[in-house]
Amino acid sequence: MLKKIPVSKLKLGMTVCEINPHPKKFASSLFETIITHQSQLEQFQKTNIEYVHIKVRDKKHLKTVSLQSELKQAKTIKKDSIQIIKSFMNDIRLGKQVSIEYVTPLVSQIVQSIIRNEEALLTLIQLKNKDQYTYEHSLRTSVLLTVFAKQLGYNAEELNMFCMGGFLLDIGKAKVPLSILSKPSMLNAQELAAAQQHIKINYKLIEELAIDSETVIQIMTEHHERLDGSGYPCNKTSSKLSLAGQMAAIVDTYDACASDRVYKKATPPHKILQNFLYKQQLFDNSIVNIFIHCIGIYPISSFVSLSNGQLALVIGQTEKGLLYPNIRIIFDSVKRVYIDPIDIQLRSDADVPQIVGVEDPIKWGIDTYSFLINQ
Ligand SMILES: [Fe+2]
Repeated sequence: MLKKIPVSKLKLGMTVCEINPHPKKFASSLFETIITHQSQLEQFQKTNIEYVHIKVRDKKHLKTVSLQSELKQAKTIKKDSIQIIKSFMNDIRLGKQVSIEYVTPLVSQIVQSIIRNEEALLTLIQLKNKDQYTYEHSLRTSVLLTVFAKQLGYNAEELNMFCMGGFLLDIGKAKVPLSILSKPSMLNAQELAAAQQHIKINYKLIEELAIDSETVIQIMTEHHERLDGSGYPCNKTSSKLSLAGQMAAIVDTYDACASDRVYKKATPPHKILQNFLYKQQLFDNSIVNIFIHCIGIYPISSFVSLSNGQLALVIGQTEKGLLYPNIRIIFDSVKRVYIDPIDIQLRSDADVPQIVGVEDPIKWGIDTYSFLINQ
């Protein structure tokens, strides 16, 4: 679907499909480009173009296989990816010769799984083991970044680069002392500075691994930068930040906040997304909004209360809109009893209960993760 907007409203991440009035220098009437950098925005603003048409994507994710069928392959991909990132980082830690070819086949498998049915890996990455945070974080950022890039309309080849970037974004941590990485409490200032060195190490590894993809490099080097210049290592500000780098910053922060650590509890997904929107000085709202459209206001694994007193787990997004995900009802909060899980698709009519809040499963003593995959 196309939407006409004034050039002044054009933002990073938007796909411009045609230009009005059509400037001579863009000869093809099928002009289509994703705005990935501030300089492209400035280029548009310098022309005499008043309006552009942008592509507006809805939640229609084309799925070529069923969730149940894709889950089988995605389980193997998840298991393999943890093994691969673990031994890749170990080899780097031990100073062994490493090659990017070692991770390339896996990256391609992740992308193909996401193209077939993204909900399989989006579900599986919710099953977390906090002792494996560093390795699982790599997989989660690669999956989330690929789904994010798919939402923006990138092709399969480009998705491979987003996936690779997500997989490698913290690879420099291989050279950070394990005592710091696995410290069961908050890091002090000195330890934090040592952990932040992982980006400097990333720069060296980019050279050693001969990584030449601009997208992968932007993800590996910019994911801790922030719009207002308060990030690290270069204190880059908005005009210097790439779209891929900003997407990586959102995904990396989202997963860090959504994960239980020994020293902190996970923040519910909808709260994290809300915080992103409040922190406009750190994250670009237009890019955050695309991410929200991509994973939903209530992302997979959110635990919600319904207008009829039942509690349910979000198991997928739908075409009905952000407020109407697919849910699995598992508990009656009035009678305080489990019910045989029932899957329903929420919609706006009165026959179906509505989401009225988000609940903390720990408060209810419910291990929601065991209900995520329909056995
Ligand atoms: Fe990082």
